[in-house]
Amino acid sequence: EHLYDKIDRLEAGESLDRETYTELIEKRNEDLAGYLFEKAVQMREKFYGNRIYIRGLIEFTDYCRNDCYYCGIRKGNRRAERYRLGREEILECCKKGYSLGFRTFVLQGGEDPWYTDDRITELVGTIKKKYSDCAVTLSIGEKERESYERYFEAGADRYLLRHETVCEEHYKTLHPPSMSYAHRQECLKNLKDIGFQTGCGFMVGTPGQTAENLADELLFLKEFQPAMVGIGPFIPHRDTPLGNQAPGSAELTLYLLGLIRLLLPKVLLPATTALGTISHDGRERGILAGANVVMPNLSASLVQGKYELYDHKIYTGAENAAELELLRSCMKKIGCEVTVDRGDTKMDTR
Ligand code: 5AD
Repeated sequence: EHLYDKIDRLEAGESLDRETYTELIEKRNEDLAGYLFEKAVQMREKFYGNRIYIRGLIEFTDYCRNDCYYCGIRKGNRRAERYRLGREEILECCKKGYSLGFRTFVLQGGEDPWYTDDRITELVGTIKKKYSDCAVTLSIGEKERESYERYFEAGADRYLLRHETVCEEHYKTLHPPSMSYAHRQECLKNLKDIGFQTGCGFMVGTPGQTAENLADELLFLKEFQPAMVGIGPFIPHRDTPLGNQAPGSAELTLYLLGLIRLLLPKVLLPATTALGTISHDGRERGILAGANVVMPNLSASLVQGKYELYDHKIYTGAENAAELELLRSCMKKIGCEVTVDRGDTKMDTR
């Protein structure tokens, strides 16, 4: 059977097996990728037209209690410049974002103990009250179920928690023994169960990752049925244990975006900052591979480059009308339109 036929079967909603995904990944070439992207864009257009959703990203703290081997804001990185935005600064980001047309705010940060559940719920409640037509997404790591329940009751709509890798052995090579694969998976199940529009995701090209691992990622996504999936290339950070490793590629990331679009036709799929960092036109190519979300930064001017997960992280902000206009015109060039919309999932979340 031709590899093109396998992509057709995926497009038709068939579930492929591990061997087939592995083959699709290992034997990919430019022509096959072109074919995949064509199908993936058709699928995106079927459910979303040419609309691209924007999320206002607020990177509000880079304090983190974890020590992930790949991440620049890991606790063990003494060189990281630590900062924490206060309540008023965060609300200021939302205000600016709202006036520009953002209708989703993503509060993302390290696992910072200063930001207790009380502080998070107060913040979420305030934002939801001020901007009642907006969605709030939290991306603040692993918590107890009770904490997630409190955030949800406070009005948080969505939660992003990348699982990073679905292979337990591989997970252990990327994280210290203090972190547990099982707990991260349990967090994802809890989030979905509570009713959040839940996003998971993984890095592409982390040291030791194989085509079989990536096939397992696709099988996991099909089973878990997340509302959102965040993937991006691994990019080494000089002050981390994996600082000397090779980065992941834009090419493989794009290919996986295409596969994910066919696998989960309605999924909210961002063209991530890491993709834009590894390739100057990565964001646009991500959209042309099936992505339908971009997440411009609303906090960059306050944070001044300190939220440094990896080396040379680019600034993709839209903190003023001119910057947002630039984004609009980039999207227009590839036939897409940035919309003022919450951009909720079209999948069943229960
Ligand atoms: N390269 C690419 N992505 C990274 N992340 C953290 N460190 C890196 C890195 N060095 C990603 C992780 C995390 C998200 C917030 O950023 O997947 O979940």
